[in-house]
Amino acid sequence: MKQAARAARAEGRLIGLVPTMGALHEGHLSLVRAALAQCQTSVVSIFVNPAQFGPREDFSRYPRPMEKDAALLAKLGAHCLFAPQPAEIYPDDFCTYVGVEGLSERLEGRSRPGHFRGVTTVVLKLLEIVQPHFAYFGRKDAQQARIIRQMAAALNLDAEIVVCPIVREPDGLAMSSRNAYLKPEERRAATVLHRALVAVREKVEAGQRDVLSLQAAMRKVLDAEPLASTDYSEIVNADTLEPVMHLRGSCLVVLAVFIGSTRLIDNLLIEEDPREPGQFRLSF
Ligand code: PAJ
Repeated sequence: MKQAARAARAEGRLIGLVPTMGALHEGHLSLVRAALAQCQTSVVSIFVNPAQFGPREDFSRYPRPMEKDAALLAKLGAHCLFAPQPAEIYPDDFCTYVGVEGLSERLEGRSRPGHFRGVTTVVLKLLEIVQPHFAYFGRKDAQQARIIRQMAAALNLDAEIVVCPIVREPDGLAMSSRNAYLKPEERRAATVLHRALVAVREKVEAGQRDVLSLQAAMRKVLDAEPLASTDYSEIVNADTLEPVMHLRGSCLVVLAVFIGSTRLIDNLLIEEDPREPGQFRLSF
C-alpha cells in the first residue's frame, strides 16, 4: 500500500483516503464519491479495528461482506481497496497508541472507554501508510470527526480532514452498518432518534433557544418509544463537546440510544449565522 501510494504521489496525483470498517452502505459511498470528485487516486480502507471495540461489544459479529464491498467499490470506480489483516496492523508486540485527551472522554467515550484511543490509533496508522492529501469522514460520527481533526492538527499531519453530511434512509434513520442487526419491529422503532432530533428542530424553528426545554422535547419523544432505551441525549458545543445552556455558535444535538441490544447514534448540527446572530442553520 505504501509503495502504491508513493507511486501515485510521484505522478502528481492527489490521493484521497476513506477509512471504513466495511459493510458498506450509501453513507460510506458518499464519502468515496467525495474522494473521487476531489482526487485522482481514491483509496478505501476496510478494517474492522479490534482496538476500538470494548470487550462486551460486537467485534466478532460485526458484518464482513468483503466480496460485496469490493464489488461496490469497483462499480463506483475507487482506485484502491486496502484491507489489511489484523496481525499486519497489530503485530504481537504492538504497544504504541495515540489518544486525544478530554474530547475522547466525553459522550461516546463515557459509554465506551478506550474506544477513541482505538480509533485515533488506527486512523493515524492508515494516514501514515497512505499519506493522503485528503481524508474523508462522516458527520454521522460527529465526535469521531472532531477528535480526528484535533489529532491531525496536534500532530501536524499533512492530510486535510474533510467531514461529509449524514446520509439517511427515506424515513430519517441515519445509515449505519449496525442497522443490519435490527429486527423488523426494532427497525421501525429506530426512527425514534431522527424523530427526537426533528422535535428539537421544531422547537428551534419556533424560537426556543433554551437548552433545557429543547432537551425536554427530545426526551419526550425518546421516552414514548417502548423499544428504545436512551444512553445519552445532550446538546453540546460542537468544538469542545461540553454541555451548553443556551444555543450559541455551533452546537450539536447528540444521541445514543439502544434499540433492543443494538446501540445507535445520531446528531443534529445547529449553527448560528455569523451575519445574523440569533439565527440558526440546522443540518440533519
Ligand atoms: P465506519 O463505521 O465503517 O464508518 C466509516 C466512515 O463512514 C466514518 O467516517 C463514518 O462517519 C462514515 N459514515 C457512516 N455512516 C454514515 C452515514 N450515514 N452518513 C455519512 N457518513 C457515514 O467510523 C468508522 O468506521 C471507524 O471508526 C473508522 C474511522 C474506520 C476507524 O476504524
